[in-house]
Amino acid sequence: MGAPDMSDPYGDRGNKDRSITKDSGAELKPGAYSGTPHEGAAGEPFLIGDAMTGGYGAGPDILHNCTVAVEKGEIAVIVGPNGAGKSTAMKAVFGMLDLHGGDVRLGGTSIAHLTPQARVSEGMAFVPQTQNIFTTMSVEENLEMGAFIRRDDFRDTMAQVYDLFPILKEKRRQKAGELSGGQRQQVAVGRALMTQPKVLMLDEPTAGVSPIVMDELFDRIIEVARTGIPILMVEQNARQALEIADKGYVLVQGANAFSGTGKELLADPEVRKSFLGG
Ligand SMILES: Nc1ncnc2c1ncn2[C@@H]1O[C@H](COP(=O)(O)OP(=O)(O)OP(=O)(O)O)[C@@H](O)[C@H]1O
Ligand SMILES: [Mg+2]
Repeated sequence: MGAPDMSDPYGDRGNKDRSITKDSGAELKPGAYSGTPHEGAAGEPFLIGDAMTGGYGAGPDILHNCTVAVEKGEIAVIVGPNGAGKSTAMKAVFGMLDLHGGDVRLGGTSIAHLTPQARVSEGMAFVPQTQNIFTTMSVEENLEMGAFIRRDDFRDTMAQVYDLFPILKEKRRQKAGELSGGQRQQVAVGRALMTQPKVLMLDEPTAGVSPIVMDELFDRIIEVARTGIPILMVEQNARQALEIADKGYVLVQGANAFSGTGKELLADPEVRKSFLGG
C-alpha cells in the first residue's frame, strides 16, 4: 500500500465503507445504471427496488429481477440463505451496485442514477452488515459523524437517539470499538438516525448478538418504526424477524422466492420447511 490518503481526515479509522461516510472518492460513484427509470405506479411502496438485475462491476449478475420494498409506517424484512444476495439487494437500493435492469424509486421518483451520498440527502439511511461504526472514535463522535450532511442543530436528534438507546448516553465518551456487539449495533443504528432519515435500511442488525440482546434490538427497531420511519432490513433470525415484519421477502440465488406479509410467510409450509427449520 502507498502513503495514506491525506485528503481523508478520518484516516484508517474503523469504518472502511467510505461510501456512507465521505462525500468524495471513487466508492461514492453510483453503480453504473443501465435500467429504465419509471414514474412509480399510484400507491406503490414508499421505497422500492423494482425488478433489479445487476452485480458488482463487470462481474456476473447477482440479482435477477429482484424486488424489495417498504411501505410508509411498516417494517419489511429480507431473509434467505447465506449468499442469496440479501446484502447485494440492499447495496443496490443504496446505489452501490451496477444495475443493468430495474429501478429504485423513493416516494414514486426514480433515484437509480443517484450516488449513495445523494440518496442520503434524499432521506435514505443505510447501516451495512459490517464495518458500520468508527471503532476508534467515541460513541458521541460516531453520532456526530452520522450528522455530517446536516447544517442545522442536531442536538435534539442526538437526545432522541440517547432516549432510544440509554446505554449509549452512559458510554458516550467511550470508544465505540470497546462496546459489546449489541451496543455497537445501537451505535450504528443511532448514527444512521442522526440524518433524520425518511427510511432506514439495516443489514443484519442483530448479527452476532445473544437472543436476549436480539429481542432488545428488535424492540428498539419497532420503536423506531413507530416514530414513522419505515424500515427495510435483512435478518438471519428469519422466524423472529418475520414475526415483527409487515412484509417479508425470501431471496434465493438473487431472486424473489417468496413474498407476502410476515404472517403469511410464517404460515407457508414451503417457507417453513425450507427456511424456518420446519
Ligand atoms: N463485493 C463483491 N464483489 C463481488 N461479488 C460479491 C461481492 N459481495 C458479494 N458478492 C457475491 O454476491 C453473492 C451474494 O452475496 P451477498 O453478500 O449479497 O449475500 P447475503 O445473502 O447477504 O449473504 P449473508 O447471509 O452471508 O450475508 C455471493 O455470491 C457473493 O460472493
Ligand atoms: Mg449479507
